[in-house]
Amino acid sequence: MRVLVTGAAGFMGSHLVDSLVGSGHEVFGVDDMSGGFWRNINPKSNFTQLDLRDQARADSFISNTKPELLFHLAADATEGRSQFTPVNCVQRNLMAYLNVLVPCIREGLKKVVLVSSMSVYGDQRPPFSEEMPRSPVDVYGVSKASMEHITEILSAVHSFNYTIIRPHNVYGERQNIADPYRNVVGIFINALLNDRHFFIYGDGAQKRAFTNIADFTPYLLRAGFDPMTDREIINVGPREEVTINHLAEMVLKVFFPQGVRVELIPVHLPDRPREVKEAFCTTHKAERLLGYRTTVDLETGLHRMAGWARELGPQQPRYLVDGLELVTDQVPLVWRNAANKPALVGQAL
Ligand SMILES: NC(=O)c1ccc[n+]([C@@H]2O[C@H](COP(=O)([O-])OP(=O)(O)OC[C@H]3O[C@@H](n4cnc5c(N)ncnc54)[C@H](O)[C@@H]3O)[C@@H](O)[C@H]2O)c1
Repeated sequence: MRVLVTGAAGFMGSHLVDSLVGSGHEVFGVDDMSGGFWRNINPKSNFTQLDLRDQARADSFISNTKPELLFHLAADATEGRSQFTPVNCVQRNLMAYLNVLVPCIREGLKKVVLVSSMSVYGDQRPPFSEEMPRSPVDVYGVSKASMEHITEILSAVHSFNYTIIRPHNVYGERQNIADPYRNVVGIFINALLNDRHFFIYGDGAQKRAFTNIADFTPYLLRAGFDPMTDREIINVGPREEVTINHLAEMVLKVFFPQGVRVELIPVHLPDRPREVKEAFCTTHKAERLLGYRTTVDLETGLHRMAGWARELGPQQPRYLVDGLELVTDQVPLVWRNAANKPALVGQAL
């Protein structure tokens, strides 16, 4: 199979490429390196640096490679920031996806596995099950919901298969811990590596379920090849939810089993706009169609990730404050303050 993975230098994409290469597939990877790392790229894959927002280049790349199977993971996944970068969010999610999907269909694509998000459920009452309607409440969720919906429509008209996977707070080795806008586990760990306290938005009673990368990649892979998953939407993630306060305690315990220094106690900030209070899902469908089961509990996973992050070392958080499209008093204070510290500000979006 000629397989294309977008976002191949990213966290989940690079783990997937490793598994595909290990299974003997001819693997092509693309990534524009906006959030990916060269160290993540599998040397046995055919990697091309490509910004999928560039329609002409995406088109010519697909004409040359003619993938039979597409795993689409490339994204700007900064959900909390998307209210302040709506143009960037739609371009990097919906438009970049169409720029790769459309030429793939033209070149005879057999199947796409779209990595979507639990954000499409919005603030409905959890646990989220796949029968619930799409009802996103933030810009990122809207972009993912549109990607899903357009996939269903194009599949019905143009006869290719698809599986939509909705992951749930995946964490683990290779995650971008320098991104201050997303990946709560990574943000907490990186703050402690930098000998700083981390922040918790709101009261910390928000509930989430966390998936170790080892409990995600095998199921994503399977979705590409198992016809049972054709034209299905599947949640992939554990049922066990924890509060952000509890997650914070667990991370602190990994670093400071004897008790945390007072200056590293987390600081609470006001809620971020549009952040849903509770987000976790049912797993029946993933169990039935993918054989899903949780094998790495959160405590074990946090120890593993902390061990990897310690080896990597503390990372400088990269705020993209110059790139915010809407700078209003709704922008979280930490992000606004970072604008006054040029050393922390990365390239514009
Ligand atoms: N990690 C999670 O908890 C989680 C949860 C739900 C959904 N997802 C989805 O899973 C996918 C992978 O997420 P991840 O955590 O590995 O993120 P990631 O940021 O590590 O990977 C995304 C990759 O996409 C690349 N990219 C961004 N814009 C691009 C463009 N225009 N052209 C080419 N490449 C581009 C980035 O450089 C990055 O390497 C994303 O679609 C994300 O929305 C992730």
